[in-house]
Amino acid sequence: MKLKSKHILGLRDMPVEDINYILDTAKTMKMVLKSPNKKTPHLQGKSIVTLFYENSTRTRVSFELAAKYMSASSANVSSSGSSVAKGETLIDTAVTINMMGADIVILRHPMAGSSHLLSKNINASVINAGDGMNEHPTQALLDMFTIIEKKGCVKGLKVAIIGDILHSRVARSNIWGLTRLGAEVNVAGPATLLPKELCKTGVKVFSTIHEAILDVDVIIALRIQTERQKSGLFPTIREYARFFSLDEKRLKFASNDVMIMHPGPVNRGIELSSSVIDTNQSFIDRQVENGVAIRMALLYLLTRREKNENTN
Ligand code: CP
Repeated sequence: MKLKSKHILGLRDMPVEDINYILDTAKTMKMVLKSPNKKTPHLQGKSIVTLFYENSTRTRVSFELAAKYMSASSANVSSSGSSVAKGETLIDTAVTINMMGADIVILRHPMAGSSHLLSKNINASVINAGDGMNEHPTQALLDMFTIIEKKGCVKGLKVAIIGDILHSRVARSNIWGLTRLGAEVNVAGPATLLPKELCKTGVKVFSTIHEAILDVDVIIALRIQTERQKSGLFPTIREYARFFSLDEKRLKFASNDVMIMHPGPVNRGIELSSSVIDTNQSFIDRQVENGVAIRMALLYLLTRREKNENTN
């Protein structure tokens, strides 16, 4: 079997077979990561470039570590320390990297659709590491992997996504991925942070956190993305926390064994109280750990796909 997709651009259009194949492969990668010697030769001779036009800790570092653990050559380009700061366009930068022989380019960019654009202009496989408010597919894959590790499968689960849905690429990718794998998804947030198109996605929309988390198996809290917000979407951060922060009192509305997740970075005391972050129901650290396994799986499957294509 090989991945149908040459690029990882989003979960909206990714075949369900590919989603399952990536999640299965990540199980093997997690075993590699847990072994005393994490190094494998699978990406020897391959070059991976991370091209980040927005800040990142988890996504960028986990891709870099994934590449190194599998013996690839890797390089990072960020907008502030490269010729992007001199005005070079995204396509010109990517073509330059492509000409240096990159096999996979991993892009984070503030513009929705930037990864799709790149994939049409270079030979390398493109992985979307977050494109504006559109998608963050590798985050949703690691979220689903973390859920499956704990709950066994996604089908039949009730998942609540809470907070700034409007600006969240994580929410969009999770909504596509979770509903396609058979979960029931509730969303809740201030009315001004709920996009109109939600009604077309099959999720249930609630205006209070209590209704949305009632009896759910998983809660995914989202970061308030002040960097993408126009002013006036909610009165103050304190007001937001008063109605939508998940604290121990509110947590009682969910199932006893509910998983609490957050893509990070967390604004402590705003999306989640510190006591909730630090409970044993919190899987935030596990999500970070699993991010490396998912990204190893993606790099492995994309380069293996290329090899299959050459031998077919
Ligand atoms: N979750 C996430 O994308 O985190 P970073 O911005 O640190 O990569």
